Amino acid sequence: MIGVLVSGSGSNLQALLDHDLPIVAVASNVAGVRALQRAEAAAVPSAVFELSRFGSRDERDSAMASWLVEQRVQLVVCAGYMQLLTSAFLERFPGRVINVHPSLLPAFPGMLAVERALEAGVEKTGVTVHYVDDGVDTGEVIEQVEVTIDPHETAEALLDRLHAVEHRLLPSVALRLLEESIGSS
Ligand code: GRF
Repeated sequence: MIGVLVSGSGSNLQALLDHDLPIVAVASNVAGVRALQRAEAAAVPSAVFELSRFGSRDERDSAMASWLVEQRVQLVVCAGYMQLLTSAFLERFPGRVINVHPSLLPAFPGMLAVERALEAGVEKTGVTVHYVDDGVDTGEVIEQVEVTIDPHETAEALLDRLHAVEHRLLPSVALRLLEESIGSS
């Protein structure tokens, strides 16, 4: 069973829901975001863990991990979750936290990956699904899909194409990992 971490629009959460993956919990670090509305529309339990309500990042992450464990989450998918996870969280789900990122990591980690790829003039970028560690997009790569940049393409157009790739790649990797983890448990 899958728990999804979100901070924003939640189009990747929607793709996971649309692929009928067993999403049992959605946690956000930001209240009122569209991703939470998507969870509600799909009748998936959700909870908000705003940092300001906790004494530290460790305390917040530990509370969030406990809630996901209560919901029987086996695999955690970061889908537009815009904060680093501390070891207080990662230790609770060893090797079972993944993220989707719009570049061919290790190229262009962090924010504005698409804009920076365009500025750098690279011919190819893409999408990476990787394991999460406590760095910025530094965990082991699981799968990547290359996307060739069209000459004179705008950041908006490229972002749309990358999102479409994310919405196929993330559900397929999540399903495979879930099946592998069920198979080995
Ligand atoms: C995606 O582009 C993802 O690669 C990045 O954040 C964005 C989230 O979009 N990590 P959404 O909230 O899933 O629509």
